Amino acid sequence: STNYENLIFEEKDGIGFIKMNRPKALNALSKELLTELQQVVEYVEKTPSIKGVIITGEGKAFVAGADISLMVNYNSEEGRSYCKFAQSIFNRIENLEKPVIAAVNGYALGGGCELSMSCDIRIAGEKAMFGQPEVNLGIIPCFGGTQRLSRLVGTGVAKTLIFTADFIDAQEAYRIGLANKVVPQDSLLEEAEKMMRKIMTKGPIAVKYGKVAINKGYNMSLTDGLELETDLGALCFATEDKNEGMKAFLEKREAKFSEK
Ligand code: CAA
Repeated sequence: STNYENLIFEEKDGIGFIKMNRPKALNALSKELLTELQQVVEYVEKTPSIKGVIITGEGKAFVAGADISLMVNYNSEEGRSYCKFAQSIFNRIENLEKPVIAAVNGYALGGGCELSMSCDIRIAGEKAMFGQPEVNLGIIPCFGGTQRLSRLVGTGVAKTLIFTADFIDAQEAYRIGLANKVVPQDSLLEEAEKMMRKIMTKGPIAVKYGKVAINKGYNMSLTDGLELETDLGALCFATEDKNEGMKAFLEKREAKFSEK
């Protein structure tokens, strides 16, 4: 377990837990917090023992957004570089070669909603609240929100949320497909860990390529996406894990994957 000043990182039996820990400011994304998030993502990228990541927040917020006390003094160029910096980190999270679950414990607003959308799966505690309230501040979501929210829920729902700045609760987020599961608040981390442990019993190369195929394919034509899927599928057929997984099925036993 490594401690940063604005987040807590813990590795537990193959899962890296990242907890945003600036509760007095509802985990707003200061430069310091973003820098530490970048460092911890770099660490996770290069640490093979970490097979999956769970991101959550301390206190009543997941993340209440970009740091307004910082942005208030930003001119256009400073705003641009702040957004680019956050986007670069969120892109790395999205493209991590391991599954990432957001365990949304409370407010996921603005940059917090955007952070959760860079994760593969969002599990919401009953107290979670999502929103993109940037227009209240005279700006648009620019940590990826205009792009990822519309890809996740469609342009009409995305425009409704982004133009009205309305907050939605966990059930509504689930209804529109922003949250993938809603669980009791007290068992949020437990449920996130349970889902991650289930994923970790599957063929790890298959899960990795599944993620690549979905992420890359989303930005392609169907024809190109299907070609990518064929290539990655063929790569799976070349693995020992494929032989093990299929033999195990036919022998009616559990597979023992070796990530080869
Ligand atoms: N930035 C900086 N500080 C923040 C913050 C933020 N995004 N959100 C909350 N805080 C601070 C508050 O200023 C307050 O600080 P003080 O105690 O020093 O006054 C502290 O956190 C606690 O917040 P509140 O007293 O406001 O708590 P509340 O329970 O009354 O309200 C809330 C909670 C509804 C989430 C409210 O804090 C809120 O509306 N926050 C702002 C949400 C927001 O607009 N987020 C989007 C930011 S823009 C963005 O993210 C841009 C992007 O894409 C680039």
